[in-house]
Amino acid sequence: MSKNLIVLFVLLAIVSCKKETPKNTEATTEVSEDYDPIAFGREIFETKGNCASCHKPDQKVIGPSIMDIAKIYKEQNGDIVAFLKGKAEPIVDPSQYEVMKTNFAITKSMTDEQLKALEAYFYSHLKK
Ligand code: HEC
Repeated sequence: MSKNLIVLFVLLAIVSCKKETPKNTEATTEVSEDYDPIAFGREIFETKGNCASCHKPDQKVIGPSIMDIAKIYKEQNGDIVAFLKGKAEPIVDPSQYEVMKTNFAITKSMTDEQLKALEAYFYSHLKK
C-alpha cells in the first residue's frame, strides 16, 4: 500500500511538472494580450510626442481638442496614422496646418505601432 502511495506521488510530481511547461508559454501570450494601445498612446502623447502641449482632451488650445479631431476623423473616415506620416492632407483645421507640420519630424520617426497607439488614444475620447 505504501509503495503504491509513493508511486502515486511520483506520478503526481511528473504530471504537475509537465503542466508547468505550457503555463510558461501561456504567460508570454498573456503579456501581449495585455498590451493596451490606448495607454501606450497616451504615454507617447504626453511624453515623447509632446502633443499635450498643444492638444487638450476637450478644449481647443493651440491645436484642436482631441475630441474634435477624433470626431472629424471618424465622420470623414480619415486616417490619423497617414496624416502623422505626412501622407494625408489636413482635414480638421487646414489654416493652421503649418503649426502642426513642425511635429512631423517627431511623428515620422515613430514606428507604425506607436502611431497606431496615438490613433487609438485619440479615438478613445469618442466614447466619453
Ligand atoms: C506646436 C503645437 C502642436 C503640437 C506640439 C502638436 N500639434 Fe497637432 N495640431 C496643431 C495644430 C495648430 C493643428 C491644427 C492644424 C491642422 O488641422 O492640421 C493640429 C492638428 C492635429 C491633427 C489633425 C490634423 C488634420 O487633419 O487637420 C492631428 C491628428 C494632430 N494634430 C495630432 C498631433 C499629435 C499626435 C501630436 C504629437 C505627436 C501633435 N499633434 C502635436 C498643433 C500641434
